[in-house]
Amino acid sequence: MESYFKVENLVKLFVLKKRGQFFGQHIHVHAVDDISFEVQKGKTYGVVGESGCGKTTLARLLMHLEKPTSGRMLFKGEDITKYNRKQMKALRRKMQMIFQDPFGALNPVRTILNIVAEPIRVHNMYRGKREERDKVRELLETVGLQTSDEMLQKRPNELSGGERQRVGIARALILGPEFIVADEPVSMLDASIRADIISLIMKLKAEKDLTYFFITHEFGVARAICDRIAVMYAGKMVEVANADDIVHKPLHPYTELLIEAIPPLIPDENWGKNIDIEGEVPYFTEPPPGCRFHLRCPYIMDICKEEEPGLIEGAPGHYVACHKHRG
Ligand SMILES: Nc1ncnc2c1ncn2[C@@H]1O[C@H](COP(=O)(O)OP(=O)(O)O)[C@@H](O)[C@H]1O
Ligand SMILES: [Mg+2]
Repeated sequence: MESYFKVENLVKLFVLKKRGQFFGQHIHVHAVDDISFEVQKGKTYGVVGESGCGKTTLARLLMHLEKPTSGRMLFKGEDITKYNRKQMKALRRKMQMIFQDPFGALNPVRTILNIVAEPIRVHNMYRGKREERDKVRELLETVGLQTSDEMLQKRPNELSGGERQRVGIARALILGPEFIVADEPVSMLDASIRADIISLIMKLKAEKDLTYFFITHEFGVARAICDRIAVMYAGKMVEVANADDIVHKPLHPYTELLIEAIPPLIPDENWGKNIDIEGEVPYFTEPPPGCRFHLRCPYIMDICKEEEPGLIEGAPGHYVACHKHRG
């Protein structure tokens, strides 16, 4: 069977400019480090990991918002890695992104009508004012928002966080995409409305026959909605399995920690801040030899400090990168 969305050995290194204590050196951030996976059509593929592990970079690579250092991406068997702007524009009709920050993603001075309709214009699909308004109303209704003229003329700051994320979703859907990359779509929202937005996202998936690449830092969310789950740590996928298997029989010590909901040791998502703390070398710029998790691992063995474990099939269809599971 032809795979739907496939990624092979994807790498993204960021080169940081020389400054402060690093002056004169090139510092590399290994944001996404040799990642391979396959998303099946009609499924929800989840990626879970703490802040800073590379989730957003991975999403942006898939969407061509970031250029890979190396590796390949294939959509329905076609290599899209080197797509030019024009090809990418055509592909955007099929692939859309829902962003983490509905506040930042929406232009504050534009009306809801404008924001939701923009992709229609960008893709030269504008067929007159009436049709455009009707289409926007239809989408607003789909995402559970009012469709009145008053609503169309509102600005993002007149909406609640949840409403804004609904607008973001309406905009992502207006061209009728089939593959959605959702980057922590509820993490900035009040706890009280998260479940509503997640239900909406899953309802839309069923109604519109969508395939999702769904990023979250909360294992509980992934477990509730994903078919397959990949756990990321420091730029690597360290475990990949069907949701039930990974939840009930996690193989990687890090996954165990996530499932026990240990609070993140790397709580800050804002990369610049890491760099400025004197004397504290940012963890991800030069990964330690051996397993990247060994500094935090309760089961550490000598080999873990020396040799980096690759993904092996620890159980049928269940992959893990950990020396503990080498036969
Ligand atoms: N534009 C950039 N330049 C340099 N480093 C970056 C950039 N974007 C992200 N990073 C770094 O890449 C790593 C992964 O970041 P990110 O993909 O945002 O992780 P996550 O979404 O899992 O929190 C972090 O160490 C971050 O500091
Ligand atoms: Mg992120």
